[in-house]
Amino acid sequence: MMKLHHSPASPFVRKVMALAIARGIEGRIELVPTDPHVSPPHLLKDNPLSKIPCLVLEDGTAVFDSPVICEYLDTLGEANSLFPTSGTGRWIRVQVMHALADGIMDAAVARRGQSSQPKEAARDAFMARQKAAVDRGLDALENDPPQGLSDIGAIAVGCALGYLDFRFGHEPWREAHPRLAAWFEQVSKLPPLAHTAPPK
Ligand code: BEZ
Repeated sequence: MMKLHHSPASPFVRKVMALAIARGIEGRIELVPTDPHVSPPHLLKDNPLSKIPCLVLEDGTAVFDSPVICEYLDTLGEANSLFPTSGTGRWIRVQVMHALADGIMDAAVARRGQSSQPKEAARDAFMARQKAAVDRGLDALENDPPQGLSDIGAIAVGCALGYLDFRFGHEPWREAHPRLAAWFEQVSKLPPLAHTAPPK
């Protein structure tokens, strides 16, 4: 049985469960009640970003975020995939609609977070949550750094580290993450990152 870190209030969780039902595989998923806002250890173990939904496969592999879970679960269903595979126009329309809906959910969930407590407390909680997510994310990458720069995961990590240097240069990350730092040093010289560096 797969496990899904779950809250009935999360629209992203709902999207994943809706896909599972549409694909006839909801019976293969055990729901684990999870409040992402308190960063419970059972969620952090699977997702350093402390976000739900997070799917845990039978072998313990954690899968996030929701678009990745949806694509993965979709492969487990029989006929009638919810992801178009033919026709470029339809592929783009469906994927962009998915991204637009995710963007609306992201914005609405963020608004809810800001409006559910007094202004100062909401800002402090937001900042602490985001900083902790970055720190735990860096730790996860240090444990299992990218290799080379020949997949979109590695490119995304390079852009994330470059952004930390660009906007948060006063918060050094290299000392505590030496393997990640060595990788970044190497790949920063390659054209995809060297030609896209943010302004000095
Ligand atoms: C909510 O209560 O709005 C909520 C809870 C968990 C995740 C996202 C939103």
